[in-house]
Amino acid sequence: MDYQTGFLNHFATEAVDGALPVGRNSPQKPAFGLYAEQFSTTAFTTPRVENRRSWLYRMRPTAAHGKMRKAEEVGTRWLSSPLDCGIADPNRMRWDPLAQPDGDVDFIDGMTTYCANGDVAACDGLGVHLYSCNASMKDRALQVSDGEMLIVPQQGTLHLTTEFGRLDVPPGHIAVIPRGVRFAVAVDGPSAGYVAENYGEPFRLPDLGPIGANGLANPRDFEAPVAWYEDRDCTFTVVQKYQGHFWTVTLDHSPFDVVAWHGNTTPCRYDLARFNTIGTVSFDHPDPSIFTVLTSPSAIHGTANCDFVIFPPRWMVAEDTFRPPWFHRNVMSEFMGLVHGEYDAKEGGGFAPGGASLHNQMNGHGPDAHSTQKAMEADLEPHKIDDTLAFMFESRWPFRLARQACELPGRQSDYDDCWTGFPKAELP
Ligand SMILES: [Fe+2]
Repeated sequence: MDYQTGFLNHFATEAVDGALPVGRNSPQKPAFGLYAEQFSTTAFTTPRVENRRSWLYRMRPTAAHGKMRKAEEVGTRWLSSPLDCGIADPNRMRWDPLAQPDGDVDFIDGMTTYCANGDVAACDGLGVHLYSCNASMKDRALQVSDGEMLIVPQQGTLHLTTEFGRLDVPPGHIAVIPRGVRFAVAVDGPSAGYVAENYGEPFRLPDLGPIGANGLANPRDFEAPVAWYEDRDCTFTVVQKYQGHFWTVTLDHSPFDVVAWHGNTTPCRYDLARFNTIGTVSFDHPDPSIFTVLTSPSAIHGTANCDFVIFPPRWMVAEDTFRPPWFHRNVMSEFMGLVHGEYDAKEGGGFAPGGASLHNQMNGHGPDAHSTQKAMEADLEPHKIDDTLAFMFESRWPFRLARQACELPGRQSDYDDCWTGFPKAELP
């Protein structure tokens, strides 16, 4: 698989020599009878530094399709905010991994919404989903008009075919699919992972401030596909998620017929092992914002609609410091997942790879009693936390739970118990 590297670069790629116009975007007659189509994920008037658009040169215009049909049978467990039966529940939640599905289930139908916030119609907030699937999408593509898809595979490589080209996304990588891009997901077998469906502003790299010009996720490590197309006449279904509902339309050809494209809005993947992790070399545990990979800003300056934050392998060297994540109450709300290994605040068990937890706005959380006691008594030699990859979707909005997430058999009714057994402080 070929990739071109960079984040928000102005890429230019063609699968057939001469397909990409030179010096103009919409020539009178593009080469080979291709059709020029602009694809915008920011408004025309967005300041240039934040403006995102690409030009696609395709065999047929996307507009050439018939009436779309509302499809009640598709994605029945993939819900949107505001959730009809959403419960604003302050309780801390934790779940075991999703079960593997019975029968053949693809990426769309394998999606289960756990919680959501904001409002799809207001282009604010996000949906948080876990997928568990075992079948490839066959002659079926997905277009999520409601938001950008940040996909975090936990089990099984996702083979993505998109209008912009193809991406392989194994566990340890993430994929970001801009709002509205058509894509299909093929899998090799049982596959599972997490999705933030970002209704808000597109993800971007966080500012680095005093860190300087380098660090955290470096732009060159993001990988975009090169142009790839298929010239295939067949019955093809495009599923569109639009304002929380699913619609389908049947084409007589594959929609992956973009022969060349240029621009700066594109699907991409990123290997989380390339994240340059920064931490203290003196004392105190830094705020986890130091681990931000991507951020979707909200209208309130400095406050994220969604931060994607990872807890990767790293050295711990702080002196006279309680090294695990500290006890915390947060105006932001935190949804966590675990790709592999063990999370250093939950060494007492219960947070398994593929599992999830939710700590909603202003509700106390932190290390379990086992991890706390161990950290308070540890010899503070430098040591490396290895074989671990946890992450967090953190949002300014409290999450409302999907009722189906409350009713999952893997929801742990005893999660509060991990914060029992703390000895009381003894005053003089
Ligand atoms: Fe927290």
